[in-house]
Amino acid sequence: MHVNLVLTVVCITRLCPAVCGVNLGTCILQGDPQPPALFKDGDFIIGGAFTIHDHMRTEKHTYTRRPQPLECIGSMDFRELRFARVLQFAIQEINNSSDLLPGITLGYHIYDSCASVPMVMKVAFQLANGLGLVFNDTDSCAKSAAVLALVGESGSTAAISTSRLFGSFGIPQVSHYATCACLSDKRQHPTFFRTIPSDHHQVAALARMVKHFGWTWIGTVRSDSDYGNNGMASFLKAAEEEGICVEYSEAYYRTQPRSKLKRVADVIRRSTARVIVAFMSVGDVRVLLEELSQQPPPPMQWIGSETWITDPQILRFNLCIGAVGFAIPRSVIPGFRNFLFDLSPEQVLKFPLLTEFWERSFSCSLKQQTGSSTAMPACNGTEDLRALQNPYTDTSQLRITNMVYKATYAIAHALHGIVCNEKGCGKNIKIEPRKVFDQLKQVNFTKNNYSVSFDSNGDPVATYELVNWQFQGDGSVHFVTVGQYDASQPKGQEFSLSRTIIWYDGSEKVPVSVCSESCPPGTRKAVKKGRPVCCYDCINCAEGQISNETDCHKCLPEYWPNNKKNKCLAKPVEFLSWNEILGIILAASSIAGSLVALSITLVLYKNRASPIVRANNSELSFLLLFSLTLCFLCSLTFIGRPTEWSCMLRHTAFGITFVLCISCVLGKTIVVLMAFKATLPGSNVMKWFGPHQQRLSVFSFTLVQVLICVLWLTISPPFPYNNMQHYKEKIILECSLGSAIGFWAVLGYIGLLAFLCFILAFLARKLPDKFNEAKFITFSMLIFCAVWITFVPAYVSSPGKFTVAVEIFAILASSFGLILCIFAPKCFIIVFRPDQNTKKHLMGKVSTKVH
Ligand SMILES: *[C@@H]1O[C@H](CO)[C@@H](O)[C@H](O)[C@H]1NC(C)=O
Ligand SMILES: *[C@@H]1O[C@H](CO)[C@@H](O)[C@H](O)[C@H]1NC(C)=O
Ligand SMILES: *[C@@H]1O[C@H](CO)[C@@H](O)[C@H](O)[C@H]1NC(C)=O
Ligand SMILES: *[C@@H]1O[C@H](CO)[C@@H](O)[C@H](O)[C@H]1NC(C)=O
Ligand SMILES: *[C@@H]1O[C@H](CO)[C@@H](O)[C@H](O)[C@H]1NC(C)=O
Ligand SMILES: *[C@@H]1O[C@H](CO)[C@@H](O)[C@H](O)[C@H]1NC(C)=O
Ligand SMILES: *[C@@H]1O[C@H](CO)[C@@H](O)[C@H](O)[C@H]1NC(C)=O
Repeated sequence: MHVNLVLTVVCITRLCPAVCGVNLGTCILQGDPQPPALFKDGDFIIGGAFTIHDHMRTEKHTYTRRPQPLECIGSMDFRELRFARVLQFAIQEINNSSDLLPGITLGYHIYDSCASVPMVMKVAFQLANGLGLVFNDTDSCAKSAAVLALVGESGSTAAISTSRLFGSFGIPQVSHYATCACLSDKRQHPTFFRTIPSDHHQVAALARMVKHFGWTWIGTVRSDSDYGNNGMASFLKAAEEEGICVEYSEAYYRTQPRSKLKRVADVIRRSTARVIVAFMSVGDVRVLLEELSQQPPPPMQWIGSETWITDPQILRFNLCIGAVGFAIPRSVIPGFRNFLFDLSPEQVLKFPLLTEFWERSFSCSLKQQTGSSTAMPACNGTEDLRALQNPYTDTSQLRITNMVYKATYAIAHALHGIVCNEKGCGKNIKIEPRKVFDQLKQVNFTKNNYSVSFDSNGDPVATYELVNWQFQGDGSVHFVTVGQYDASQPKGQEFSLSRTIIWYDGSEKVPVSVCSESCPPGTRKAVKKGRPVCCYDCINCAEGQISNETDCHKCLPEYWPNNKKNKCLAKPVEFLSWNEILGIILAASSIAGSLVALSITLVLYKNRASPIVRANNSELSFLLLFSLTLCFLCSLTFIGRPTEWSCMLRHTAFGITFVLCISCVLGKTIVVLMAFKATLPGSNVMKWFGPHQQRLSVFSFTLVQVLICVLWLTISPPFPYNNMQHYKEKIILECSLGSAIGFWAVLGYIGLLAFLCFILAFLARKLPDKFNEAKFITFSMLIFCAVWITFVPAYVSSPGKFTVAVEIFAILASSFGLILCIFAPKCFIIVFRPDQNTKKHLMGKVSTKVH
């Protein structure tokens, strides 16, 4: 920024009577006045300030001589000239109108402030103060401000400078192009209005669009000015809220050194983000694109701000094909095109600005200067504006132009409200600018179907068009409207697309701009250290977790991830079923065992009269065989899907039949012991343990177990249970014990009886008997205890169908052990050695033993 702000004004005479009120007429604007670029006198004067030239001539101040007058130089922005012309046009229309300000002639002073703050300030002072020299009006302090209101300042920086001055004196300013959200702050810019929406809305819309198309990795450039810095700061804030990451954020202003420009261009060339958001003014973006064109970067998707996205000058940069951005809606101003072309060389010669425009457009010289060094030929009068192709004559895209038009009408409406009533309008009323300001706040009208009103911040309702640069049939690039944004719509419905966007690569497919590709199913993001959150590695989900999009999450307890880890599958349910080989084998063994028991019963029953059967307590034997049959059969309840009933039946049936079985064996052992004792002289113990007592003891032993089982079942019965804790990948359908105490009581009672039986049998094993069963019982109890002791650790260690199989195996093994040890020898003798099945033989055996 230049610091050569030369204060050309010593005193704002008209506005500060306190300072200059005493010496009227001696206080005038100092320095060389800047003549207005365009002006017309009238009853009321409206100011206008536009950025028609590129920049201001800079001068090294020596402080030894008077500085040169400020002067705008450089290339001419014909579009800005059009903005100035539409102000003229609107004022002419208002002058012609019989409704708005009838009988009143409005005048204007239009200045070129060439976006340079010193010039802007000078123009502002002149507008506020008037030009004493030009208008020869030394009676300054008696009059109000030179202008009642200002249309303009195109740039935000210029508008801020002007607004600070105008705000102090209550002169309203209506900008057509200053979009900085900072200007909505009414404490700092109290008299500022605008017809263009604030960047606040544009920035929100841009961030939402970037989010909408899924670009999470973008680069940004901005003008290093109030416009760019404020706009970009808001955009970055909005983008951060939307979860968008920014690879780089560069700033450039067209008067900054070239080395800075080169650095910015290099950053853009090296970037990996395929989307670049440029929040820049036209002058800055043009300089940047020119630099980039020298050594084009890889193609990228440009997102533009409203200043340049519809500027025809930028359209020639092929770099930006496919660019999209929000623009002020296109509009129609009837009659304006004819007004633009309505310029003759005579009219043009009245104003140096128009003369320069004419000469630049036609490359000819209007003034026949003698000794002119310019090589331009003289204009010969055949020049035709209609044949010109430049931004001045291009009225196909009237966007900002309409903002100027609206601003002018808004001021006219405000004036109308002050000077006109039903009877007519007063020409010679003295108006304070502050009155115009008050009226402007209430302005609400419709012109050419475009409504104009200001909210409490002086902002209009925000409406934008989404514009896309597309190739047309003839190979030229055009602005195509592809969508709308209307901030007055309910939230979420502001943004609508109406046509397909053609992107930078010429396709309709939305380009991708991400730092890291989205993670495939089964993986999740892991942010890289020291990098933005959009840059991440993909790491596999932990066991038991899936991800179908972004994050890993656990499946429900009944489910388990598939191999790709993108879906949850129901876990297989495991139990020992009838259909599997193990189940069939065990069931078959159980049935075979019961058949064996039955056939032994049959054999014994057929030979119930034979000595060997009779000698061995046949009643208990049959009861034992019966209970063994049940023992075999009860293992069947362990096979198949556990249900409420089978769970209750399982352990109780097993417990009761086994107790029945062991108590029979116990009875037999006691009988053996007693029988031996009874043979001893003098004792009659046999009487005490006859068949009656035997039955009673078996019954009461069993009754204890039945009671235990009844207690277990009533207090806390076993139930089917899906065990999901033990294995992650399958569900085990098992019978929960309900009460572990119940279970261990049942088992413990069996164990107790078995142990008792074992002890007694062990004591009796050596006793001489006719056919001593005791040693077989000892042996069978050994097997029994061994089987069940090995069963316990297997049972406790891990649930699953094999545990159930182990339990069944234990049942079968112990039953087979019992049946084989106790009955096999007898059957063998009955079937194969009938000769030994005699009383004599048995007795003989006994007698040999006794002897
Ligand atoms: C205003 O009226 C004059 C004369 O009647 C006419 O030449 C001019 O075109 C009108 N201007 C507009 C903008 O209507
Ligand atoms: C302005 O309008 C008045 C009549 O309302 C007319 O006499 C005058 O010529 C017009 N001036 C211009 C510059 O159009
Ligand atoms: C300004 O007006 C005064 C009379 O009020 C006159 O004497 C003087 O010459 C005028 N100056 C110019 C530059 O027109
Ligand atoms: C007028 O000058 C233009 C170039 O400036 C030239 O093309 C044209 O022929 C000239 N016309 C006449 C009538 O001289
Ligand atoms: C403007 O006036 C219209 C009716 O003419 C009304 O619907 C609208 O709300 C007004 N706007 C404002 C901002 O007051
Ligand atoms: C305004 O809208 C009406 C109806 O849509 C249309 O007839 C008229 O021509 C429009 N006026 C302008 C100036 O566009
Ligand atoms: C991802 O999973 C969630 C819930 O698990 C589901 O709502 C969503 O539809 C899934 N998305 C895809 C693309 O499968």
